[in-house]
Amino acid sequence: MASPADLIRPHVSSIPLYVPGKPMEEVERELGIVAAKLASNENPLGPAPEVIDAIIREAPRINLYPELEAPVLRTAIARKLGVAEDSVLVTAGASHFLEIAALAYIGPGFEGVSPWPSFVHYAIASRMAGGEFKPLQAADPRKATIEEILNGISPHTRLLFIANPNNPTGAHYSRAELEELLSGLPERVMVVWDEAYFEYVTASDYPDGVAYLSREPQLLVTRSFSKVYALAGLRIGYGVGHPSIIAQLARIRGPFKISIPAQAAALAAFAAVDHTRRSVNLVVEGRRYLAEALAGLGLSVWPSQGNFVTVDVKTDASAVAERLERVGYIVRPLKPFGLANSLRVTVGTMAQNEGFVRALAEMRSVR
Ligand SMILES: Cc1ncc(COP(=O)(O)O)c(C=O)c1O
Repeated sequence: MASPADLIRPHVSSIPLYVPGKPMEEVERELGIVAAKLASNENPLGPAPEVIDAIIREAPRINLYPELEAPVLRTAIARKLGVAEDSVLVTAGASHFLEIAALAYIGPGFEGVSPWPSFVHYAIASRMAGGEFKPLQAADPRKATIEEILNGISPHTRLLFIANPNNPTGAHYSRAELEELLSGLPERVMVVWDEAYFEYVTASDYPDGVAYLSREPQLLVTRSFSKVYALAGLRIGYGVGHPSIIAQLARIRGPFKISIPAQAAALAAFAAVDHTRRSVNLVVEGRRYLAEALAGLGLSVWPSQGNFVTVDVKTDASAVAERLERVGYIVRPLKPFGLANSLRVTVGTMAQNEGFVRALAEMRSVR
């Protein structure tokens, strides 16, 4: 007899479970120490005080359904970006926008693709939509060339996900590369250009994806309030695209996904410019420090435009991650991407960065 679980559509059981960074609380409970979570690319400063005030102010209203379109926030986003309001879809994180795009463009017989390694949710979202996902393995795992990406597109491809800068490599595509991509793209393929780490970029050749939207209807751009705005736990982000597409995507966003406190917090985060500047500076200084300090240990770090660095520890990185965890540093081993010797380390506070380097140095000296 078939069990109720067998009635679940087969594509669901093929979806990989998202594996989050180990929660700080879990490590602290197990080891009785204060842990530094450098595994999920969160903002170590926490939200701005004004953001906390906004959440507290709205807390008594969580008995109410929120406004569907998050209209005040949508206006603020549109103004900041210099686009029309109907080009913006506010979502429960950039991840939610990825899911919506996948649902709209991929289904049985179609596929999403992305240069690989990249954000695991591209694979999950494609499969949630009932389609396939094809990772495009590049000759150099640090960055696929545009030619490699275009060669990986098949007649079944409907969505191309590109994180710029990329997680977990930290690499970015330049304006020239984005233009090369868009000019070589088949008409049936949409690009989801994921700028979750936009605010941390310092590279002068970095393209602002939003600036391309008016002439590139095949482009969708997504950004997040989880990173520099420190709202990962409230689930809020947005997508931007041609109004004719955004209007369709709104049909499958689902109702009331963005709570009243989340909408208010995102608005307050936009206004908290000093906190944002401090958050960016912390990352820019921290990733420079990590690159130099790890080079001092004889380890090389991949150049990164995100709030994380990937380091080759020249030995089994999963074992290194376990040992680091025992002394309170939670980092992300990249074995699932076939990078068995690499760790992704989120830039923390300076004290956390220094503590992590010290712990790694001690570990290497006793090996
Ligand atoms: C490339 C990329 N896109 C999107 C996200 C998720 O963003 P959000 O928290 O807004 O869903 C992440 C989170 O790590 C990411 O690395």
